[in-house]
Amino acid sequence: MTVISLVRGPHERASSVALPAGPLTVAARQVAASLIGDMGNRWLHTRGVAARAAELAGPLGVDGDLLTAAAWLHDIGYAEPTVVTGFHPLDGADHLTRHGWPVRVAGLVAYHSGARFVAAARGLSELLAAYPDERTVLADALTYADQTVGPSGLRVDPAARYAEVLHRHGPCSWNALVDADRGPYLRAVTGRIEHLLALPAAA
Ligand SMILES: [Fe+2]
Repeated sequence: MTVISLVRGPHERASSVALPAGPLTVAARQVAASLIGDMGNRWLHTRGVAARAAELAGPLGVDGDLLTAAAWLHDIGYAEPTVVTGFHPLDGADHLTRHGWPVRVAGLVAYHSGARFVAAARGLSELLAAYPDERTVLADALTYADQTVGPSGLRVDPAARYAEVLHRHGPCSWNALVDADRGPYLRAVTGRIEHLLALPAAA
């Protein structure tokens, strides 16, 4: 079994977390490191989301390799070499498709954290529709991991995270413009995942 150290480069924290990793995760981590490993907080956030995803997979009973790989890749659309439309979930998914990644991974990246609401506002729904919008516990877990890790990689309350993003992006941002739909959606995801996490473990 491959073990991935989460410490890399000048932006890393002193604390190290080693995670067991499957083949998709190993490849995804390499792609993410090559594209956003030097992007400061973007990398710290991604590292934190990957760690959170790896923790969630077991308790939620989902494919940990797929979930953790998608977590490593979810924000690669911010990297300059991937930017085409300027909408990072779509640009990330398109980059993965061009490089032969499974369509399910691309779909998870394309729709993470309520991307469909922003895509609709930006007139990008048709392009996003090239990808499967799976509405599964695994997809919810990716969004939950993203919404519970802040910009510097620290764990945060999802409501605080959402408020911070709205504040940081400003009242005229796409996120703010779709808040009436995306906000309730993200709260519903949080409710579903936290409900599952609170259930007694199966005997
Ligand atoms: Fe993210």
